[in-house]
Amino acid sequence: MIYDIVRFSTDESKWKTVETGERARVMFHRFDDSTFLPNVIERDEATLILPTTVGCTPLIVRGEGCELIDADGCRYLDCYSDVGAMSLGHSHPDILAAAHAQIDQLQHTTTIYLTEAMFDLAERLAELAPGELNRSFFCASGTEANEAALLMTSQYTGRGQFLSLEGGLHGRTKSAMSVTQIPMWRTDPFLLESCHGVPGYNANNSLARIEHELSSRKYAAVIAEPIQGNGGIVTPPRGYWQRLRNICDDTGTLLIADEVQSGINQTGTFFAVDHEQVIPDFITTAKALGNGFPITACLTTDNVADVCTRPAASTYGPTPSPAAWLWPCWSVIKKSILRNRPSRKAEDWSPD
Ligand SMILES: Cc1ncc(COP(=O)(O)O)c(C=O)c1O
Repeated sequence: MIYDIVRFSTDESKWKTVETGERARVMFHRFDDSTFLPNVIERDEATLILPTTVGCTPLIVRGEGCELIDADGCRYLDCYSDVGAMSLGHSHPDILAAAHAQIDQLQHTTTIYLTEAMFDLAERLAELAPGELNRSFFCASGTEANEAALLMTSQYTGRGQFLSLEGGLHGRTKSAMSVTQIPMWRTDPFLLESCHGVPGYNANNSLARIEHELSSRKYAAVIAEPIQGNGGIVTPPRGYWQRLRNICDDTGTLLIADEVQSGINQTGTFFAVDHEQVIPDFITTAKALGNGFPITACLTTDNVADVCTRPAASTYGPTPSPAAWLWPCWSVIKKSILRNRPSRKAEDWSPD
C-alpha cells in the first residue's frame, strides 16, 4: 500500500497523510482558498507518463517574465527558457492581450481555410528571411518543419540521400531523427540508411568530407544548424557556411538551415545565417517564433514551391490564434531586444 502526503496548505503543520491506491499516488497542493492558484494534482509519474523525460522536477504552476513559480510558491529564474521557446518570457501582457482578442474572435481553422493572420505572417517572414525565401509552409513543431524541408528536397531533386553534421539535432520523427547526429537522441533502432553523418564544426576535415560525399550527386540535401544548440552551442569556423553553400551549388544539393533554435534574433541577427550572409534553400524556424505557442515554419523559394505541389497539410499549421499572437511578440522583440543588438533587416521592419 502506498501512503503519500496530501497538502491542503503551504503550512506544513496542516499536511495530512492519507492512503491512496497503488496506481494513483497523488500529491495535492491546495493553497488557501483565497489565492488564485489552482489545485494541482501530481499523479505518480511512473504509472502515467512515458519514462522518456527527466523526473523529479518542481511542479510548475505559474510563469511571470523570466521566473517560474512552483506549487509551493518557490520562484525560479528560468534560465532554461523552455528550450529557447520562451524568449520573451512568460505571460507578457501585450502578447496575452493579442492572444485573448484573437481567440475570442476565431480560435482555430485548419490549413484548408485561408485566414488573414496566415497571410500576414507569411508576408512578414518573407520580408525578414534572406534572399528569395518567400514561401512558407506552417506546422506545429520544429521536427515537423524539418520533416517538411527534407521531403521537399527529395521532391525537388529526385534524390533520396541526406547529409548532416555530427552534433546536430533535428527532431524526433523518422527522417528528422535519422539526420540527427547526437547519439543520445538517436533512439530508433531502425534509422534510415539514406541518412549519413559527417564530422561537425570542430573537425578540420568537415568540409572536405562533405565535398567528398556530395560529389556522388546522390544527396538531396545537407541539413545543419548554423549554431548547434543541443550539441553544446557550437559555432562554425568563419567562412564555413559560405564554403558549404558553394559545395552544395557545385553538386546540385539543396541546403537546409535548421534555425529552430538559432532563429528569431537569438544570435543578434534575425536568422543566424545572416551573420555570414549565406542564403540557404530552406530555413526552418520554430521555438522563439511563437514564444510558447506551437507555430513553426519551413521557408523556401518560388523555384522549390513550383515543383512541390503535391498535397500537404498540417492540422494546426497556420491556425490564426498563434499567427495573431506573433505581432505583439515581434513588436516586443523589436522594442526590447533589437535596441541593444540591432540587426539591419529587422530594424527596417515595422511590426505595425
Ligand atoms: C535545432 C533543433 N531542431 C529541431 C528541434 C526539434 O523541435 P521540436 O521539439 O519543436 O520538434 C529542436 C529541438 O530542440 C532543435 O533544437
